[in-house]
Amino acid sequence: MKNPTIMITGTHGFVGARAVQHYPDAICVPSELVRAAGEALTDFIKVHNPDIILNAAAISDIGVCEKNPEASYAANVKLPVLLADAANCVNAKLISFSSDQVYTGCTEEGPYRESDVLPTPANLYARHKLEAEERVLAISPDAVLLRATWMYDMPMYAHANRGNFLLNTIGAVLQGKELCFSSEEYRGITYVRQVVEQLDRVFDLPGGVYNYGSENSLHMLETVQSLLHALGTAYRVQDTERRRHNLWMDCSKIKQQGIYFDTTTDGFRRCLNDYGYNMIV
Ligand SMILES: NC(=O)c1ccc[n+]([C@@H]2O[C@H](COP(=O)([O-])OP(=O)(O)OC[C@H]3O[C@@H](n4cnc5c(N)ncnc54)[C@H](OP(=O)(O)O)[C@@H]3O)[C@@H](O)[C@H]2O)c1
Repeated sequence: MKNPTIMITGTHGFVGARAVQHYPDAICVPSELVRAAGEALTDFIKVHNPDIILNAAAISDIGVCEKNPEASYAANVKLPVLLADAANCVNAKLISFSSDQVYTGCTEEGPYRESDVLPTPANLYARHKLEAEERVLAISPDAVLLRATWMYDMPMYAHANRGNFLLNTIGAVLQGKELCFSSEEYRGITYVRQVVEQLDRVFDLPGGVYNYGSENSLHMLETVQSLLHALGTAYRVQDTERRRHNLWMDCSKIKQQGIYFDTTTDGFRRCLNDYGYNMIV
């Protein structure tokens, strides 16, 4: 799509803020319209007539969702459903973030492909994300739902202080805290800048659900060790030897569409390199 008019929701969030930085001409939907998710939002979309609606708004904290199920339903299901309806009205394409959490209850070894594994969400946030995927695609088959992995960056924006894998690990090392990870769990973890940089190509994807982010063939213990190695420290990590869940995604569907991410380990190096930050001890 050449020079699409892009509209973004959740513009103060972790992903949304970076999307706005990447697309400085994008139309930012005011927070209060997004949070109310009513007629005024639909009217705003009709007035601005975007080609792409990028939905980065959500209640993305699993614990907050569990404690506030109605608020989670409003933000994580009703909002994307309303955006799908509005996208249809103006003939726009909706790109909305889902999550690898939809695989939380899966017991297969993995890695999981979208077509081979029936997602079995094991928490409320993930159930709502899965419901949103299904309902959005029923309304707008052209919509794209991105099952994003856990993402990280260095602090830069308003929500910068929220923990992420990179900051949590660096913080633990600097404070001498114990680091515990499991040799039984697998998941990809992705540099958010790459998530945003790939969006141009996402706009041209056929409608559907996509695993979206860095693949990772290392278990979590090895993953954190690879980050520590990139940071230049031999800090010790304990193996919990316990599997809570496996969120191991196979991203070949998106690769077939020409969208490639660094591996999780290469992503750590890219991020540290971008910030000129490579030694903590
Ligand atoms: N961060 C991750 O590691 C991760 C991993 C997997 C999937 N995801 C998904 O990726 C998307 C972006 O996540 P994020 O980390 O950027 O989330 P975030 O930092 O929590 O930001 C989400 C934004 O959503 C808006 N929002 C908050 N409460 C809302 C509500 N009740 N109703 C409507 N909008 C509300 C806010 O936008 P304003 O500030 O503009 O009001 C907020 O800044 C979400 O769909 C999330 O589920 C994130």
